[in-house]
Amino acid sequence: MSVTDTLGRPLRDLRISVTDRCNFRCVYCMPKEVFGRGYRFMDRKELLSFEELERLARAFAAHGVEKIRITGGEPLLRRDLEVLVERLVAIGGLDVALTTNGALLPQKAEALARAGLRRVTVSLDSLDDATFRAMNDVGFPVARVLEGIDAAAAAGLAVKVNAVVKRNVNEHQVLELARHFRGSGHILRFIEFMDVGATNGWRLDDVVPAAEIVRTLDEAFPLEPAEANYRGEVARRWRYRDGAGEIGVIASVTQPFCGDCTRARISAEGRLYTCLFAVRGHDLRALVRSGAPDAALHEAIGRLWARRSDRYSEIRSQGTADLPRVEMSYIGG
Ligand code: GTP
Ligand code: 5AD
Ligand code: SF4
Ligand code: SF4
Repeated sequence: MSVTDTLGRPLRDLRISVTDRCNFRCVYCMPKEVFGRGYRFMDRKELLSFEELERLARAFAAHGVEKIRITGGEPLLRRDLEVLVERLVAIGGLDVALTTNGALLPQKAEALARAGLRRVTVSLDSLDDATFRAMNDVGFPVARVLEGIDAAAAAGLAVKVNAVVKRNVNEHQVLELARHFRGSGHILRFIEFMDVGATNGWRLDDVVPAAEIVRTLDEAFPLEPAEANYRGEVARRWRYRDGAGEIGVIASVTQPFCGDCTRARISAEGRLYTCLFAVRGHDLRALVRSGAPDAALHEAIGRLWARRSDRYSEIRSQGTADLPRVEMSYIGG
């Protein structure tokens, strides 16, 4: 049974954050000044268990969710994550995906594939080691992420690569990344730097518009537009005319895609957010832990979705700039 929100959008995707911790401190996501020693992350007991997550996932699937993405923070920091993958895959009929910074893929890729995972999305903002180390801000070498990508591919996982582009920080890497991944079979996607959270010092001047990225690429490697794979796909697809594969651009700032947004998000402590930029979440954990029956969970999710009216990226303006917002590391990408 399908539920639609006040703008007629169905619920199709669920993004589950399994931890708010990360081993990186990307400057656009978890700036060290904020996420330093004194920062208080969630306690273990606050996190939803795999059992609780599976139960929620089933309730969402019953509302028409077809895709579940596991995110973080860095999801591979959650111990035995492959056990969760196995449980989600066992629900049946779901496209289960994982977004990771890739650092732990060399150790984890095999186990994830064995658990039934088919694909991963790896964040990689630069191939230049100095730039990459500066962006993750913990000095993590790019070679290890590339090893992670190779390990994923070797384990049989399809790979997408996400690069956030920030003006004067890594825009010079756009072409390098394209050159590297052309013909590799991995799909590279460029993401406009977004004003998620309240700590990353976002300024419109730091955004490299998707149109500019496409123009730069097209000059070096001619492109042609490709059709979306499904309604509401976040990335706009472009194909290399010479057959070397495709790229995508995620233009949340310059070409918002709220009209087709079918995504719900659950934080690691079980709060439901109906928008990446939402101010408030809804506590599903209390309900899950209260011993409520499945029917009550199902009903609550349907009710929350039915009254959803979020379309932040379409109404972004001076007026929205100072609204409080959840952090990306809390809610997942
Ligand atoms: P597939 O098409 O299933 O591969 O995944 P996807 O396009 O949903 O990709 P992914 O989850 O990798 O999303 C890529 C990035 O797009 C995220 O990390 C976010 O930065 C951004 N993004 C995804 N969903 C939304 C959304 O609902 N709103 C906004 N503003 N940005 C989003
Ligand atoms: N703007 C755009 N993308 C971001 N991500 C994290 N913070 C931001 C931001 N402010 C990306 C990560 C990763 C995905 C989960 O979200 O790089 O690819
Ligand atoms: Fe960690 Fe991903 Fe945020 Fe970077 S973007 S700090 S890897 S959660
Ligand atoms: Fe969906 Fe909110 Fe992103 Fe718009 S801004 S696409 S409503 S998550």
